[in-house]
Amino acid sequence: MVNDQMVNVYHIPAMLQETIEGLAIKPEGVYVDVTFGGGGHSRAMMECLQDGGHLFSFDQDQDALQNAINDPKWTFVHSNFRYLRNWMDYYGIESIDGLLADLGVSFHHFDCPERGFSFRFSAPLDMRMNQTAKRTAADIVNGYSEEELAKIFYLYGELKNGRGIAKNICKARSQKPIERTEDLVAASRIPAEMSKELARLFQALRIEVNDEMGALREMLVAARDLLKPGGRIAILTYQSLEDRLVKNFLRSGNLEGTIEKDFYGNNLSPFTLIEKGREASAEEVERNPRARSAKLRIAEKKMTKW
Ligand SMILES: C[S@@+](CC[C@H](N)C(=O)[O-])C[C@H]1O[C@@H](n2cnc3c(N)ncnc32)[C@H](O)[C@@H]1O
Repeated sequence: MVNDQMVNVYHIPAMLQETIEGLAIKPEGVYVDVTFGGGGHSRAMMECLQDGGHLFSFDQDQDALQNAINDPKWTFVHSNFRYLRNWMDYYGIESIDGLLADLGVSFHHFDCPERGFSFRFSAPLDMRMNQTAKRTAADIVNGYSEEELAKIFYLYGELKNGRGIAKNICKARSQKPIERTEDLVAASRIPAEMSKELARLFQALRIEVNDEMGALREMLVAARDLLKPGGRIAILTYQSLEDRLVKNFLRSGNLEGTIEKDFYGNNLSPFTLIEKGREASAEEVERNPRARSAKLRIAEKKMTKW
């Protein structure tokens, strides 16, 4: 068992109350938290459940297990959430009453120097959330073409100078492989005082290393199909590309974001929107600055067959 203080050190959950209220948890329902992390959201969800209810919490990082919840109504799934459907089949769950995804990495990832997620520490360029995955950030930095690097810096890091940074990196690696966080900082030639740019560079690589967009797409489709009518999906996003994907998916019910309408012009999306990108309050951001970029989107599956 882990006490609340330890959980808080691992991660401080963003928009906890808004998320739990928005999920409108049924005490005997079956729920999934696809991003367990420090377990803050999962614990709050468990408090709403009674006998007959169950929560499945996923995390691909085995470190999250140190926050395990000792309760027969709780099951930890050590897996990428892209396999949500397979795991629900495995546990004999045909449909769920609600799902939460609090995307990205936890504080634990940034605060563990050896994981290589942060440019604040000297460490091997790793950035894998799943420590057993094969591909590290060093593999990408040293193996991708200049064009591919420029693309991920632009798309996932929103770095306007993605091309220039990719060029600098390729020049540096032609002298010697880029193996550590400080090597990447030096190779990028982003000045140390431009910490926001460095954070974006590291974010872009992290998203690519962990195929965050691919996993999110697969999970969204599985969640849509698993949700019962009246069931709710709550998603916390932290960067604009994933937020756009989630926003369009919840509006349309498909990955293309194509809104289909019937003869009368009614939106045929399977979802009714409940929260459309709510942000953390000023008080919360004061307490937890990392909640600044959080956006909460919640939708409810319509009762009618779509
Ligand atoms: C922002 S944290 C979640 C924090 C959590 N809500 C809490 O209250 O502590 C995101 C967590 O999701 C995990 N994660 C991210 N992407 C994942 C994926 N595709 N599959 C499984 N776990 C994932 C990360 O390892 C991390 O622990």
